[in-house]
Amino acid sequence: MSNEALNAVCPYYTMYPLGFPLRVLEQYGKQGDWVIDPFCGRGTTNFAARLRKMPSVGVDSSPVAAALAQAKLATATPSGVTASARAIVKAAKEPTSLPTGEFWRLAYHEHTLVQLCQIREALLADCSSDTRILLRAIVLGALHGPRPKGAPSYFSNQSPRTFAPKPKYAVKFWTARGMQPVDVDVLSIIKTRADRYLTEPPPNVGGKVLLGDSRVADTFTDIPKARFVVTSPPYFGMRTYLPDQWLRLWFLGGPDYVEYRQPEGQLEHSGADHFAAEMGRVWKNVAKHTTNDARLIIRYGGIHDRDAVPMDVLKKSLVDSGWKMKTAKAVPDSDSGRRQVRQFQAVPKKAITEHDVYCHRA
Ligand SMILES: C[S@@+](CC[C@H](N)C(=O)[O-])C[C@H]1O[C@@H](n2cnc3c(N)ncnc32)[C@H](O)[C@@H]1O
Repeated sequence: MSNEALNAVCPYYTMYPLGFPLRVLEQYGKQGDWVIDPFCGRGTTNFAARLRKMPSVGVDSSPVAAALAQAKLATATPSGVTASARAIVKAAKEPTSLPTGEFWRLAYHEHTLVQLCQIREALLADCSSDTRILLRAIVLGALHGPRPKGAPSYFSNQSPRTFAPKPKYAVKFWTARGMQPVDVDVLSIIKTRADRYLTEPPPNVGGKVLLGDSRVADTFTDIPKARFVVTSPPYFGMRTYLPDQWLRLWFLGGPDYVEYRQPEGQLEHSGADHFAAEMGRVWKNVAKHTTNDARLIIRYGGIHDRDAVPMDVLKKSLVDSGWKMKTAKAVPDSDSGRRQVRQFQAVPKKAITEHDVYCHRA
């Protein structure tokens, strides 16, 4: 058990390894320095900052990301989280909304689905305490995943962990194999996970996570001046952050079906120049909330279905942004097996090299 355990509470599309922000903050920072991540995803930077005793601010426009990153700054005991889940289920009546249809019938056993809906409704009504924020992250992490040979560790029928199953494909898959959902013990899965992730908590250092759009200057009001911005923006062309997380979005109050429309609040991927300009707005916004000696450190790469060279897009985004690029280093081998792009390609094509780009205030 280590105080890094909480970082793994739920996988997130295109997360970077904890070692990256940990290394950077150890090398250049000191205890008490403020850190910002304007594209915080699951809150890896925030969690690294916490381990280094640095307060941090995270911003992400995906509700799944914001919920997970909030948990990275929260503190509660495993027994507190388990008791909170038990109390919710014990006090709950029939859920007011219960999804129906072939997908839902095969994805979750009917008893499991009722309990999940009860917990969902209670957390939608009130998720203000650290205990509930951590319970929400634990449920998000257990919502879908593989069915092991022994005791179940996820609530769903056989599914991928990182991405939500696509309903049509999943129904075909389960039907062809005669796979029925197991009547899992929801509270026991929560307890096992609470013990795993919360037994040794990291220090409590403060900070906050905002659900918001980093292109909008007002998103950053009322935050202290930071000495570090450590982040990884979406790679140009990666636009499915929300549809691929549709089940977790449902748990957070979204619809019980996949929505494919371009989600609001995400950088627009219509063209490389436009994308670079959108990213540039974010660099400008964060520059205003940093000290004169601040550093901006960006991990950036690309995907294969776009012709644009990732480093060209990034360099363009930095022009007149308040930041000046100093160095760019190829991501070390130790991280390369866990590249962001690899997280979601079933058969990875030859990877596009990722770079860590270091900038100073202009
Ligand atoms: C590459 S991921 C960050 C992953 C993160 N480093 C981690 O370890 O989890 C990029 C994130 O940017 C977010 N994002 C995209 N456009 C945004 C915007 N305009 N404002 C805030 N967040 C945005 C996406 O929702 C996504 O979570």
